[in-house]
Amino acid sequence: MITDRNAPSGSSAGAPTNGPGSNGHGSAGDPNAFNAIQVEHIVKKYGDFTAVDDVSFNVKEEEIFGLLGPNGAGKSTLIRMMTTLIPITAGTARIAGHDVQKDPDAARRAIGVIPQALTSDLDLTIEENLNIYAKLYDVPSKKRKAAIDELLELVDLTKWRSAQTKTLSGGMRRRLEIARGLVHSPRIFFLDEPTTGLDPVSRVAVWEMLTSIKSHRKLTILITTHYMDEADRLCDRIAIVDHGKLVALDTPPALKASVPGSNVIEAQFDNAPADWEDRLKKLNGVTSVQHEGASMYRVLTGDGSRTTTELVEAAVHSGVKIRSLSVQNTTLDDVFVHYTGRQLRDELVKAHAFVMPPRPGLQP
Ligand SMILES: Nc1ncnc2c1ncn2[C@@H]1O[C@H](COP(=O)(O)OP(=O)(O)OP(=O)(O)O)[C@@H](O)[C@H]1O
Ligand SMILES: [Mg+2]
Repeated sequence: MITDRNAPSGSSAGAPTNGPGSNGHGSAGDPNAFNAIQVEHIVKKYGDFTAVDDVSFNVKEEEIFGLLGPNGAGKSTLIRMMTTLIPITAGTARIAGHDVQKDPDAARRAIGVIPQALTSDLDLTIEENLNIYAKLYDVPSKKRKAAIDELLELVDLTKWRSAQTKTLSGGMRRRLEIARGLVHSPRIFFLDEPTTGLDPVSRVAVWEMLTSIKSHRKLTILITTHYMDEADRLCDRIAIVDHGKLVALDTPPALKASVPGSNVIEAQFDNAPADWEDRLKKLNGVTSVQHEGASMYRVLTGDGSRTTTELVEAAVHSGVKIRSLSVQNTTLDDVFVHYTGRQLRDELVKAHAFVMPPRPGLQP
């Protein structure tokens, strides 16, 4: 059951409390907060193929809203429609109250966009890249320098301001793009996978930066990511998208609570019999069992300690050796499996790896 308590009437995402036309103000946790983004029954078709299929959701002002889904789910297509980059086949999107089809210029003025592919000019310096954008967005010349100085501080690139973009690491380029997207002080910020392809340290740095920027200015953030852990820690609400459809939407704790079972036991066994999965399913408290290959089983249970005890007893009794065993709380990975029937990790392994755009001068 999808539970967007903030979705428009008749939406595939649940009952309305704050549909189109509402104009209350408040913060992300406030149910009466103004909707910075309102998406209603939006559809995108490419010929016969439906890339986005009747999706509805609202994002409240100052909320961090995550779009989570495997490759090809439709995340970028959704962002491109919301940000006026591609036509909408059916349905509507309102950005800061402006219908993106009827008044694209007004919508554009309210937003900053970081596309999935890196797009800064490699031959320019960091500062030149920011300056060009500031001019494109008509930031008055008197304000330009102060705005750029402030942003360089926020993304921790002040001492690199004169460095040519092609000499930067992937993480630094992402930070430059984040600064560039904010140069005209947008109210709503769209980021399409800003951390994909980055090492774990740079990923954390990007998120810390976004959190810090949000504490300095009024900003609504819509972000797509593959990383469940990031989404869990940093998003106020998360929409899970799969095959173009919205399959779940709520706060991370509520999403986890919606999955039957509160603990996950991950265990690896030696010489498990053929009916081992069925036997694990019969243990007390178990709501589902997944055989993940390499003798690894993932057991969801509402009673972690009882199931663990029974599992160990069953293994001893059957002469099955336990190679490893861990008990954790339910994660967003389990939420994804619950709503899509698949593991996000597997989907990502199947997908093509992220390739950094070429860095001239460093090519073989
Ligand atoms: N211009 C296009 N023409 C035809 N099909 C397209 C086009 N753009 C996207 N698609 C298809 O629409 C679907 C959704 O693509 P989209 O790029 O939105 O997915 P995504 O969730 O952003 O994936 P990723 O995580 O890989 O970025 C995919 O099946 C894709 O192949
Ligand atoms: Mg994408």
